[in-house]
Amino acid sequence: MYSLKELPYEYDALEPYIDTHTLGLHRNKHQKKYLDNLNKLLIKNNYSFSHPLEKLVRYVKDFSKDREDILFNLGGVINHNIYFSSMNPKGEKPTGVLLQKIKDKYGSYEKFKMAFKEKALSLKGSGYTYFVYKNNELELINLQNQDNPYNYDYIPIICIDMWEHAYYINYENYKEIYIDNFLEIVDFQKANKIFNVV
Ligand SMILES: [Fe+2]
Repeated sequence: MYSLKELPYEYDALEPYIDTHTLGLHRNKHQKKYLDNLNKLLIKNNYSFSHPLEKLVRYVKDFSKDREDILFNLGGVINHNIYFSSMNPKGEKPTGVLLQKIKDKYGSYEKFKMAFKEKALSLKGSGYTYFVYKNNELELINLQNQDNPYNYDYIPIICIDMWEHAYYINYENYKEIYIDNFLEIVDFQKANKIFNVV
């Protein structure tokens, strides 16, 4: 069976930007529910748990039934893994090759953050705003519900969860402030490592 990925920080580490209660609910109730549903569906379909989660996306079409439910719950687990690891209290900013690519595309890191916020605010309903990489191009995209970037062969860099459960307890309907605060703790550490060895 698949299990929850470990959080790279403590539950209270993102205060005051992401409050402890919201983060706990988000991971232990919301993400856990997607994980439990996914495991149940996979067991029901005699799946051998042989692929890493990200790779399973491309094999969902091979299941004879429950394909839509499997993909939805798989997306729920994957998207939350990426969202939780997009943040860190010691958030590292883009450096080296990644920073240069951001400057080439958006003009500066500050302008990138404005474009990211604009994209997130344009998302209608529930979903995620992703900063992704594909065919040597950086891109900001919105994915609805639990659609996930591996469905389109995007390499995810960071994402923000724009489902209401991600922010409503602390921010009510002030999405702008939630996005601004996410950008204060966004972590490019992993992306820097990938880009700077390319
Ligand atoms: Fe969420």
